[in-house]
Amino acid sequence: MIVKTEQDMNGLKEIGRICGAIRDELVKRTVPGITTKELDDIAAIMFEKEGAVSAPKGEYDFPGHTCISVNEEVAHGIPGDRVIQEGDLVNIDVSGSKNGYFADTGISIVVGDGDEVLKNLCEVAKLAFEAGLKKAKPGSKITGLGRVVYRTARQHGFTVITNLTGHGIGRTIHETPEYVYNYYEPSDGGLLKEGMVIAFEPFISTDEEEVFEKGDGWTYITEQSFVAQYEQTMIITKNGPIITTL
Ligand code: CO
Ligand code: CO
Repeated sequence: MIVKTEQDMNGLKEIGRICGAIRDELVKRTVPGITTKELDDIAAIMFEKEGAVSAPKGEYDFPGHTCISVNEEVAHGIPGDRVIQEGDLVNIDVSGSKNGYFADTGISIVVGDGDEVLKNLCEVAKLAFEAGLKKAKPGSKITGLGRVVYRTARQHGFTVITNLTGHGIGRTIHETPEYVYNYYEPSDGGLLKEGMVIAFEPFISTDEEEVFEKGDGWTYITEQSFVAQYEQTMIITKNGPIITTL
């Protein structure tokens, strides 16, 4: 969507705050011994308390309130009886709506004392996001963000997932622009506009560049790579992007 009114701005900030708070709480509670379903239950209670609705549940009838993906799982992991272990790479992705406005945010973390490569992978996902943030100006090419995401990944010996992308957001969870690629896509001539709302989400991979669906209708996995994501929802303005989900 394009933000036009004060009401738009406030509505986006409100759901952004809620999704950011749920993400942070789940990160704090991701400790060895907890199941992904127990984490998701915490999110369900928080959504309810805030008068907000989980987007995966509300929009797609996903079997959970959040997507929690562990190790070989990259995205859209279904919360269940999987028990979090020390050293696991865990992605928590929270999206939701309130009063017709949407937000989407995610982060990958390593539980406790994990592998240095995995910790670095999570760091690089955030660095790639920050590099893209500097390119997020009205009038700039949308795929310019992807260019610096890819460059950042390569600089650190990693690569990107090409078939998972960011997206427009605002009045629904996925809207135009349809794709915010994590690499430079020459066929994408789309430009960022003043007030445009996007979910920007670098996926940084240790090796493979594509994910595939596991066979459960939801979960995206790789064969043998690890992948870290970092996602925030932002409003493009001439004074710099406003991140709603911080
Ligand atoms: Co997300
Ligand atoms: Co997203």
